[in-house]
Amino acid sequence: MSIRILALSGSSRRGSLNQKLLDIAAHGARDAGAVVTSIRLANYALPAYDGDLEAEQGLPEGAKRLQSEIATHDASLIATPEYNGGYTAMLKNALDWVSRPREDGTSGVALLAGKAAALLSASPGQLGGLRSQLALRTVLDKLGVLVIPDAFALAMAHEAFEGDRGLKDKGAEKTVVNVGTALCRTAGRLAR
Ligand SMILES: Cc1cc2nc3c(=O)[nH]c(=O)nc-3n(C[C@H](O)[C@H](O)[C@H](O)COP(=O)(O)O)c2cc1C
Repeated sequence: MSIRILALSGSSRRGSLNQKLLDIAAHGARDAGAVVTSIRLANYALPAYDGDLEAEQGLPEGAKRLQSEIATHDASLIATPEYNGGYTAMLKNALDWVSRPREDGTSGVALLAGKAAALLSASPGQLGGLRSQLALRTVLDKLGVLVIPDAFALAMAHEAFEGDRGLKDKGAEKTVVNVGTALCRTAGRLAR
């Protein structure tokens, strides 16, 4: 059976550089045989996490849908911008909602734990948003997600793309494609 990978970005911006980078890695995962579902976190309309809201109304519909997406996928491919040295509030908020107990009382954290993830980042800066990956890795580690060593941080990202034809630097593009391939391979091994 094919490995199922969920591809998501921490940016909701139209023309997001991280989304473009994510799409290249997703291509690599598909070429390696994975079924990749690309989602936009903004489409889940998640309110900022609020314990009172959760206690009074339960999980928002979007959080339940996102939990279901994660439940039905073997691994995650995540690209995130760096905002002030961390990753984005939208992505953290999504992880916080997903980690909450499900409607049926089962663990939200268990949906993520023991599954693989690969990280990417893109920034107009010189470090390519690398610090966002470090911060995200710490949180995913706490959630039991197995973050693979294959990763890529795209520096000077505003100048790095060749229109819709991927990256100008074809060597870098190959590395990004390989992140998707490596995630598919690792998820396959975990699924055995
Ligand atoms: C609030 C905010 C904080 C930012 N902080 C950083 C930063 O710490 N490091 C960095 O490299 N870029 C930073 N940037 C620039 C983003 O990397 C840049 O806007 C990037 O294009 C966002 O990713 P996207 O194109 O996928 O939306 C910041 C942007 C915003 C809006």
